[in-house]
Amino acid sequence: MTVDIAGTYRTVCDLDEIWEGEVVEFEVDGHDILIVHQIGGEVMALQALCPHQDISLAEGSFENGVLTCRAHLWQFDSRSGAGLNPDDCRLALYPVRVEAGKVLVSVEGVTPFRVGA
Ligand code: FES
Repeated sequence: MTVDIAGTYRTVCDLDEIWEGEVVEFEVDGHDILIVHQIGGEVMALQALCPHQDISLAEGSFENGVLTCRAHLWQFDSRSGAGLNPDDCRLALYPVRVEAGKVLVSVEGVTPFRVGA
């Protein structure tokens, strides 16, 4: 089944507000979104709050494509959202695109992951 999400994208920021290798948190329609600007230019949008205890991952570290939460050092792959340590959790990925230098995200139908929820 194909879900047409055209028209649900929201402008989040200008791409040049976020350097390559940097992550920044934004709020989009009630969702806490982490925009990741990968080294090499790719842009990802993931849930910003750690699925363990809702700590912002923007407060942690981002190195070699790995997001590390500052609270208890859980780690996530910033491209897939997969949990690396532990590996039985994940971050929700949001559809994202870059147009005319703007970062756009859709939160339609995406539910952030939370341990125990
Ligand atoms: S709140 Fe992120 S690892 Fe515990």
